[in-house]
Amino acid sequence: MTPADRLIFAMDVDGADRARTLADALAGRVGIFKVGLELFVRSSLEGVDIVGELSSRADVFLDLKLHDIPVTVRRAMKVAAGKKGIRFVTVHTGEGPEALRTYVEEAAPAGALGVTVLTSVSPDDMPGLGYAVSLEEMVLRRARWAAQSGCAGVVCSGHEAARVREAVGDDLLIVTPGIRPAWQTDAHDQKRVMTPQKAIRAGADHLVVGRPIRDAKNPAEAAQRIVDEIAKAVG
Ligand code: C5P
Repeated sequence: MTPADRLIFAMDVDGADRARTLADALAGRVGIFKVGLELFVRSSLEGVDIVGELSSRADVFLDLKLHDIPVTVRRAMKVAAGKKGIRFVTVHTGEGPEALRTYVEEAAPAGALGVTVLTSVSPDDMPGLGYAVSLEEMVLRRARWAAQSGCAGVVCSGHEAARVREAVGDDLLIVTPGIRPAWQTDAHDQKRVMTPQKAIRAGADHLVVGRPIRDAKNPAEAAQRIVDEIAKAVG
């Protein structure tokens, strides 16, 4: 895997035109384009096959964080798996390993990525959200479920990456959002951020970066700086 393959750009944009412009600027510089809810819903409602368009320039990660009764998730997964160029699809892990196993069966040739706990949640939020376990315990428990059920990987913050790696071994990909390069001081709504170098050294395989690239004056240059930082960390 090259350093650029490790970088996933979060296409959090409000429409297909902006997505196309960014795809033109970033194709070849980042390995994967992540299509999230906003772009997916908008382009679907407007009848634009944005996933098809983007997948001609880089692999697509469909970040829909599917969460519903298992049969519904399974059926949606099957539809996504039938589309060429989709590398990953995210599912929530909260329903446990039995449900996850059935999603994995439908995902191939795409990989199912299990979302552990969103990086916008902080450890202090857990009691108020009604959870009796710590955030870290919750992440580890869900990562183990993902590993047991054959998920391609998990999504977790850099702060849990090392513990997740320890808990699940090398077979599971660790995909880490909440990345802020040293030159980007704004964490936005992310509460558990980390630099690219630190996240890779903590065990992340892929880094998800959105706003630091999207909002940069020169997105291609910002992506390249992050790839260089990744190269240093893996090298
Ligand atoms: O702009 P920023 O770099 O914060 O983008 C982070 C991206 O990662 C967003 O698309 C967000 O939906 C996604 N994500 C996240 N936390 C997770 C899973 C995905 O921030 N646990």
